[in-house]
Amino acid sequence: MGDLELQPLVLYVDDERANRIVFEQSLGSDFRIKSVSDGPAALAILDAEDVAALVTDMRMPGMSGEELLRIAKERKPATIRMVVTAYADVDPILRAINEGLVARYIIKPWIRAELVQVLRWAIEAWTFTRNSTALYARLMETERLATLGSIAGMLVHDLKQPLMSLLINVEHLRELAKAAPILQDSLSRTPLALEEKTRLSELVDDLDPVTTDLKASAMHLSSLIDGLRELSRPRDRSSKVEFADPLPIVRHAMAVCQEIALTAHASIDYQGPGVLPRVAISATELTQILINLVQNGAQAVAARGAPQGKVSIVARTESNMLELCVRDDGVGMPPDVLGRVGTPFFTTRAEGTGLGLAQCQRLIGSAGGRLRIESALGIGTTVTIVLPVAA
Ligand SMILES: Nc1ncnc2c1ncn2[C@@H]1O[C@H](COP(=O)(O)OP(=O)(O)O)[C@@H](O)[C@H]1O
Ligand SMILES: [Mg+2]
Repeated sequence: MGDLELQPLVLYVDDERANRIVFEQSLGSDFRIKSVSDGPAALAILDAEDVAALVTDMRMPGMSGEELLRIAKERKPATIRMVVTAYADVDPILRAINEGLVARYIIKPWIRAELVQVLRWAIEAWTFTRNSTALYARLMETERLATLGSIAGMLVHDLKQPLMSLLINVEHLRELAKAAPILQDSLSRTPLALEEKTRLSELVDDLDPVTTDLKASAMHLSSLIDGLRELSRPRDRSSKVEFADPLPIVRHAMAVCQEIALTAHASIDYQGPGVLPRVAISATELTQILINLVQNGAQAVAARGAPQGKVSIVARTESNMLELCVRDDGVGMPPDVLGRVGTPFFTTRAEGTGLGLAQCQRLIGSAGGRLRIESALGIGTTVTIVLPVAA
C-alpha cells in the first residue's frame, strides 16, 4: 500500500492495554494506527489530525464508547466510526447504528483477515465521501441496512432453538388435549364442589382449541423465521450452476399441495408435454418456487369458496426457455394488492408471512429467469415463470 506514513489514520480506542497491543501488532504492518486508552485522548487526536476511521470499544470507564461516538460525529462527521464489541451487546449496537453513530461493528474476538477488510473498506469510504455530505449520507444508509440485515441473520439463528422447544412442547400439550374426554369423565366422578368442578371442566374443554391455536401460531412463527433466514442468507454466486428436471418437481409440488386443494374443493392438474427439458436452477429451489405458487393458487381458490375450483400448471417450451404458468380461478387480486405482492412481508392473509412471492422472485432472478403476475379480481390469477433451459 505504499508508504505507511502517507496513509490515512486509523484511531483505536480501548481501555485494555493488551487489546491495544494486539490491535497494533497485528494490523500495524498494513495500516497507520494510533491507539489510546480513553475517550478524551481520542478526542484530542481527532481534533489535531485527519482521522479516517475511529474504532472504539463500547464499555470503558469514564467516557463510554457511545459518548465518544456521539461527540466524534458532531465534531468530525466525515470520520468513519466503528465499534468493536461483544456479541451480547446487540441492543446498544442496534441503537448506535440506527442513530447513525456507527457504520459497522466488529464482533470480539475478531479475526485479522476480517478486520483488515473492514479497515480497508473504511479508508476507502472515507477517501471517497470526506468531501461530500450527500455521498456520505447515502453510504451510511446503505451500510445501516446491510448491518441490520446481518443482525437479523444472527437473531434468526438464535430464535431457532427456543422455537424448536416450543414446537415440541406444543405437541406434548396436544397429547394432553386428546385425553380431554377421559379427564372430563374422571372429573365428573370426583367429589368436588360444583363451582370448582364447572371451572375445571371449562378449562379441560379449552385444551383442544387452545392447543390447536398455539400450534398454528408456533407454525406461523416457524415459517416466518425460515423466510427471514432465507432472506438474510447471501447466495453463493461462486457455486456451480445446477440443473433440474422439472416434471418430477411439478408432480411433487402438486402432491404436497393436495391437502389444501382438497379442503378448498379444488383440483390441481398439469397441462403440457410429457417430457420437459432440464432447466438451469437447483431442484430444491424450483421445488420451493412451485410449492409456493401452487399453495397461493389453492389458497385463492379456497378463499373464493366456489364449489369447483382449479389450479393448473401449464408448461411450454420456447426456443431455449421453459415457461411454467401456475393458473388459478380463485379470488384474484385488486390492482393495489397486485402492485405490492412480492414486497417482503406484504400479505393479505391472516396466517400469511408475505415471504412466498418475494422468495420466488429472488430465486428466479438469481437463476437468470423472470416472473410475471397477471390477476383479475373475482376471476383468477396466473403467475408465469420463465427459466433458461440447460445448454
Ligand atoms: N394466486 C393468488 N391469488 C390471489 N392472491 C394472491 C395469489 N398469490 C398471492 N396472492 C396475494 O399476494 C399476497 C402475498 O403472497 P405471498 O408472498 O405468497 O405471501 P403469503 O402467502 O404468506 O401471504 C397474498 O397474501 C395474497 O394477497
Ligand atoms: Mg404464499
